[in-house]
Amino acid sequence: MSPAALTITEATVDFGAGPVLDQVSLDVAAGEFVCVVGASGSGKTTLLNAIAGLVELDGGTVAVDGRRVTGPGPDRAVVFQDDAVFPWLSVARNAAFGLETQGVGKAERRTRVTDVLATVGLTGSEERWPRELSGGMRKRVDLARALAVRPPVLLMDEPYGALDMLTKERLQADLDRIVSHEGMTVVFITHDLEEAVFLADRVIVLASHPGRVAAEIRVPFARPRDPELRLTPDFQAVRGEVLHHLQAVETTA
Ligand SMILES: Nc1ncnc2c1ncn2[C@@H]1O[C@H](COP(=O)(O)OP(=O)(O)OP(=O)(O)O)[C@@H](O)[C@H]1O
Ligand SMILES: [Mg+2]
Repeated sequence: MSPAALTITEATVDFGAGPVLDQVSLDVAAGEFVCVVGASGSGKTTLLNAIAGLVELDGGTVAVDGRRVTGPGPDRAVVFQDDAVFPWLSVARNAAFGLETQGVGKAERRTRVTDVLATVGLTGSEERWPRELSGGMRKRVDLARALAVRPPVLLMDEPYGALDMLTKERLQADLDRIVSHEGMTVVFITHDLEEAVFLADRVIVLASHPGRVAAEIRVPFARPRDPELRLTPDFQAVRGEVLHHLQAVETTA
């Protein structure tokens, strides 16, 4: 897997009641981690689905390494807020699911599943059933399935929104370590500004009605990051900057 760049050029989406996204342009460099924040209804999920090829554009283009996106593809994996773990499959079979649909052979599947479960911290849970897992472990299974196909681009829509704070922080640190090590390109949607600043190289603030890029804030800390970074004045200053932009957008909306 080599890292891929993502280019969104004047993307417009209109479901019939006026544009939800209005000529949104965004370049994400290979290996870059971008977080998108914005009010509920500002079009974050629509943007992510457009990148995933799950929503059709009414204008503009999305391209991965210059190849135009026309639908879902193996170069982009998606993790949604509600976990997509199949209750009738074991942890290992869940993790292998994308590989099976791609026709990857049994021996290779087994190796990759072992590797990916180790990466997300689920070694020893291969034969467990989803009903036996905590919410955090289910998100790990979700991530394992997405990572198993080795997508150059990872798309995540509020994946940790429903988790308690400590579980969330653990999963954030693990995700940071994994994608930094793999050099993956990530677009991650969240409402949680601390999460955004901890994970991202750059935070995009989306304005509502119609959705457009209102601000972008660079996060100047090398990745992977120490969880303790959150306690530093420098971190809190960046968080304050993002909050300031978000408030400015909301008072003019
Ligand atoms: N399939 C659809 N058909 C019609 N309207 C839609 C569709 N999907 C989204 N919308 C509308 O587009 C707007 C943006 O929705 P979207 O889900 O992208 O927002 P969001 O920023 O992800 O919000 P949240 O933070 O609540 O998840 C909303 O007004 C929503 O009602
Ligand atoms: Mg959403």
